[in-house]
Amino acid sequence: MSTLEDRIAFAHRLPKAELHLHIEGSLEPDLMFRLAQRNKVDIPFGSVEEIRAAYDFSNLQDFLDIYYQGMNVLRTDEDFFDLTMAYLNRVRADNVRHVEIFFDPQGHTERGVQFDTAISGILTAFKLAKAQFGVTTKLIMCFLRHLPEEDAFKTLKQAERWLDHLTGVGLDSSEVGHPPSKFERVFAAARERGLKVVAHAGEEGPPEYVREALDLLKIDRLDHGNRALEDEGLVARLRDEAMTLTVCPLSNQKLCVVDDMGAHPIKRMLDLGLKATVNSDDPAYFGGYVMDNFRAVIEALDLSQDDIRTLARNSIEGSFLSDGEKRAHLSAIDRA
Ligand code: ADE
Ligand code: ZN
Repeated sequence: MSTLEDRIAFAHRLPKAELHLHIEGSLEPDLMFRLAQRNKVDIPFGSVEEIRAAYDFSNLQDFLDIYYQGMNVLRTDEDFFDLTMAYLNRVRADNVRHVEIFFDPQGHTERGVQFDTAISGILTAFKLAKAQFGVTTKLIMCFLRHLPEEDAFKTLKQAERWLDHLTGVGLDSSEVGHPPSKFERVFAAARERGLKVVAHAGEEGPPEYVREALDLLKIDRLDHGNRALEDEGLVARLRDEAMTLTVCPLSNQKLCVVDDMGAHPIKRMLDLGLKATVNSDDPAYFGGYVMDNFRAVIEALDLSQDDIRTLARNSIEGSFLSDGEKRAHLSAIDRA
């Protein structure tokens, strides 16, 4: 068995995709501060240190309250551009070659920032990052599940003129009490428009929510999925359908979805034949980007070189890239 440092270096070297990243969750405290000043927005923190000290969560809702407050500094397309460029530049250092990014349009439109402002800033950054350093990107807009389905339909309407630039829709925010069934119709409408569909399920919610996401939303990929492991039949189904799970280790630790990293289920998922991937979710809030997440699980769960290669392969196979693009990344992984 190679040393821990060798395995971390191997994970770093492999080309990887990140499939579960909320762009608003990549807002680092120093950028939050700068944007607050630039836009003359009051924030309830006196320093970057005070912001970091507030990031102490005991569940998903604790985090969401601060996350929605934080995004209040995002006002102009330049803000969304700066936010997205900062993230793309950062993950380049981790050898992340492809990203599928979530954004939360309703987190912006409900405070008076136009859908078009957010999406145009993000897309301008995508174009520049591709030209400057070759990273490829896709955009997924999430519906906030604590809001009514009717509001999600309004958001889908606002997205109509951007459909060529959107790869899919997702479902995020407060899970418990807001099952996938609440969004069955709007997900059907998104699928009719040719969009891919993904959903957060089984992060805090029960295995039944994962079943609903499969049966009612007809998801192409499952975000989190931790609690699916409580149901053997569901595990068999996820394995048989080769469903990709976008797992977020540091997020799970920060939001107390797992007791500690040694108890994280990602190794068990791999051993059960599930297509798990490693992602950062909201890196500015949870203490790290893709490689920080790899490092945490390699260390705590003693992952082997084979496990690491499988995780990198899963990230490419589970992406929405074309078969040809996937083949190019997969052969680079196999050569590493
Ligand atoms: N929005 C941003 N991060 C999220 C998470 N981990 N779960 C649900 N909604 C989110
Ligand atoms: Zn998430």
